[in-house]
Amino acid sequence: MCGIVGYIGSKTASGILLEGLKRLEYRGYDSAGLAIINDGGLVIEKAVGRILNLEKKVGPIFGSATVGIAHTRWATHGAPTETNAHPHLDHSGKIALVHNGIIENYASLRKYLEAQGVGFESETDTEVLAKLIGHFYTGDNLEQAVRSALSEVQGTYGIAVICADQPDRIIAARKGSPLIVGIGKNEYIVASDASAIIEHTNQVIYLSDGEMAIVSREGFRTITLDAVPVTKDVQQVEWKLEQIELGGFEHFMLKEIFEQPESVRMCMRGRVNLREGTIHLGGIANYARELTRAHRFVFTACGTAWHAGLVGEYLFEDLARIPTETEYASEFRYRNPVLDDGTVICAISQSGETADTLAALREARDKGALGIGIVNTVGSTIARETDAGVYLHVGPEIGVASTKAFTGQVTVLAMLAAFLGRRKHLSPANFQNFICALDQIPGQIEKVLEQSGEIRRVAEKLAGRENWLYLGRGYNYPVALEGALKIKEISYVHAEGMPAAEMKHGPIALVNKGMPAVFIATHSSQYDKILGNIEEVKARGATTVAVITEGDSEICRQCDFCFTVPKTIEPLEPLLTIIPLQLLAYHVAVLRGCNIDKPRNLAKSVTVE
Ligand code: G6P
Repeated sequence: MCGIVGYIGSKTASGILLEGLKRLEYRGYDSAGLAIINDGGLVIEKAVGRILNLEKKVGPIFGSATVGIAHTRWATHGAPTETNAHPHLDHSGKIALVHNGIIENYASLRKYLEAQGVGFESETDTEVLAKLIGHFYTGDNLEQAVRSALSEVQGTYGIAVICADQPDRIIAARKGSPLIVGIGKNEYIVASDASAIIEHTNQVIYLSDGEMAIVSREGFRTITLDAVPVTKDVQQVEWKLEQIELGGFEHFMLKEIFEQPESVRMCMRGRVNLREGTIHLGGIANYARELTRAHRFVFTACGTAWHAGLVGEYLFEDLARIPTETEYASEFRYRNPVLDDGTVICAISQSGETADTLAALREARDKGALGIGIVNTVGSTIARETDAGVYLHVGPEIGVASTKAFTGQVTVLAMLAAFLGRRKHLSPANFQNFICALDQIPGQIEKVLEQSGEIRRVAEKLAGRENWLYLGRGYNYPVALEGALKIKEISYVHAEGMPAAEMKHGPIALVNKGMPAVFIATHSSQYDKILGNIEEVKARGATTVAVITEGDSEICRQCDFCFTVPKTIEPLEPLLTIIPLQLLAYHVAVLRGCNIDKPRNLAKSVTVE
């Protein structure tokens, strides 16, 4: 949510900043701006909308500067206008600030500053922080002024600051919003995530909460907000540049849908060993005993990751026989949950930065629960704040609508459930069957993807419909939720996902002629029941679409449109049944002319509550 990039080195800053902003655009994209220092003064440009709009406005005056900061915004306080776009300036116009996060006490700080005669141009909380730094600045104490201002602030921030008086440095600080310093050869890049950095270097340091970096061309220092020096380990980012480029696909979402055979393989690589009949999960190895003895698991997450958690709940109860709940992180953290020693809290998050998920994890760990993470972004805050965890290793996900992270999360949950199950009661034979089925999933996903053209043809018939139902049972109930979320997010049609049987308790009143009802109706334990549900909506005129098991001619006859998935064991079906629904959402959105990778009002990484 919002992207920050700052550059100091010997190259033209504006080019690197604009490229960096484009890489970060998925974090927020309603307006953008950048500031550089030129001939001892700040030069600023801002634009509403995409980075391209900003790029068009950046003139030759930006050409010679070798230090600057930039920002792409997802509006919280104030509409997406140029005035509200970052960078914001202090009263003297010498200090520029970009900020992610929310300054919660901005109203009282603003009142205080106004009483001192400071004027404001924007409606943002960020401008208050910029003015506050200026308030403490006396001409040669930038670092001190930033620290003093931050000590007055309540809320979250990742910031980068430059000052015309000190063109040889960028000051960066974080609390709650991620910030990384990329280390090049006599050049440094400050950014809110690695995608803006890896083109230049894969050596980074991750700032922790309450830390600040003072970055110059010669090097950097890291300190706490109380000016105590901290030593940071330099880490290597494993991402490759091609992973964050389109590589011939029209959209990141489509690329990431098609990456799933490989991303699921990557997720299992070195972990599932068919020959030995084992699952090895290095990140939790030291806690295997505690996890096996746990008497309760709580999965906490938001959005798509929450849907993966729901699948995990079924997997854990089924395979590991451990009572499990899946909780919306935002609800869980505020309702004084009962947690004790034997409870394991498991935060599921692609970004590892989602504010609510992080807060829920902290709350549960404070109450004594063991905290584990299922996270994609290595080194992210959630990954660092858990006792143990399993990375997805599905590579960077750029499309705002999550796809390969979902299948990665379900794959990790399946491995974890089977791993714990085997240590409890799962027989070697059943365990072996399970991992054999898991091993086949990537190849089976490939087969499902072959239907993309057919799914597009169905999308052409249905793209104009405004209300959709998604229905599934058992393991495919979370898939119904996720299918509905996908189409909502990128096509802006209204869609509801629910357990198929629940439809009768209200939502069936919505069904009218031509309303698409999408069933996940595989040949599994609740097959007959779902057949009945299909009849119920057909009788009311719905257009029926079904995801079915290959070779099922019965449902094929009954439904208007069918997509097939290869046969697998029921607990692993979500890894296959979600694929046609991702493609359906994608094709409908393309046909409706929507912006696939940057859907309106959304952001990839939601670092505000
Ligand atoms: C946002 C994204 C969703 C994502 C959710 C949780 O809402 O748009 O795609 O599922 O956040 O994100 P996380 O990074 O924690 O998985």
